[in-house]
Amino acid sequence: MPTILVTGGNGYIGSHTVISLFNSGYDVVIADNLANSKMEVQNRLKQITGREFKFYNVDCCDEAALDKVFGENRIDSVIHFAGLKAVGESVRMPLEYYSNNIGSMITVLKCMEKHGVKNLVFSSSATVYGMSEDVPFTEASPLGTCTNPYGWTKWMIEQILRDYAVAHPDMRICLLRYFNPVGAHESGLIGEDPKGIPNNLFPYISKVAGGTLECLTVFGDDYDTPDGTCLRDYIHVCDLADGHVKAIEYLAKADEPVSVFNLGTGKGTSVKEAVAAFEKACGHPINHVFGARRPGDIAVCYASTEKAERVLGFKAKYGIDEMCSSCWKWQTMNPEGLKD
Ligand code: WQD
Repeated sequence: MPTILVTGGNGYIGSHTVISLFNSGYDVVIADNLANSKMEVQNRLKQITGREFKFYNVDCCDEAALDKVFGENRIDSVIHFAGLKAVGESVRMPLEYYSNNIGSMITVLKCMEKHGVKNLVFSSSATVYGMSEDVPFTEASPLGTCTNPYGWTKWMIEQILRDYAVAHPDMRICLLRYFNPVGAHESGLIGEDPKGIPNNLFPYISKVAGGTLECLTVFGDDYDTPDGTCLRDYIHVCDLADGHVKAIEYLAKADEPVSVFNLGTGKGTSVKEAVAAFEKACGHPINHVFGARRPGDIAVCYASTEKAERVLGFKAKYGIDEMCSSCWKWQTMNPEGLKD
């Protein structure tokens, strides 16, 4: 079976995607600089799949090191996850985000070109729709004004890939726009393991439920939504991972050099609903208070899933209850996350 290079494959979405690829019969090579993940993930992947994956501790901005990965393996396709992804951090450190995220994408493209690799799946984000209120977002929805440098790097990389495909029309590139990935593998052995205090809702709720954080602040309950809190399209990380396998399969038959797909469930869940679902999963109340809105938040964001269903044959399987129960299992089995 073809070999897939997964950059950032040691990370949250990357590691779950490695399992989906393995389950679909692909060989996998991982390149990751461990900037936002721990080597223990490799042991967990071996526990789950029973095999070891070729792992290269490589920064994707290091062309010589990445070239060696391509030189030592017959890479058929690349899934590029590697990149910095903390919204708040990107506002504080814009140069790191622009140089790392854009630099790594350009370096990957250079290595692919040198080694004749034509298939690329890029980890993009619904954040490229910006502050638009025109929901549900379809792939044809106008790209908006991003609210942070992280979002702009995704927006800019999408443009770089379109321009690159004009110069290299034999490329087959899939842009996957993720909505809100949450949850964990059913084993509870891998999951979202952010460094420090989580910025995102689910890992924060999970730590409050587990007692490692005191109290959740709900950022605003005065939005123009049914219960006053923001709606988001939460998608189980295992569904998201399976969507990448569908994208790899699609590239083999794609006519167009560049294709774009939303990966979501098509359903908006409010913060209050997420808290209630998590309370059901963990069996006790989640300590929470209502505070001020968070700057940059939009009231409602959820996907149109029509194109991914029609073209990729992708439809999310899991609902909010499985997202919460899998997140809770990961939390209870790894209360302090993974140790290095
Ligand atoms: C969800 C909702 C918050 C924390 C972000 C990135 C996006 C993508 C997914 C990478 C919002 C509320 C949160 C808290 C809260 N990442 N919230 N208290 O902002 O929709 O998207 O992650 O691609 O690029 O922007 O996700 O989980 O941060 O917030 O009330 O402590 O939960 O206000 O309404 P978001 P989130």
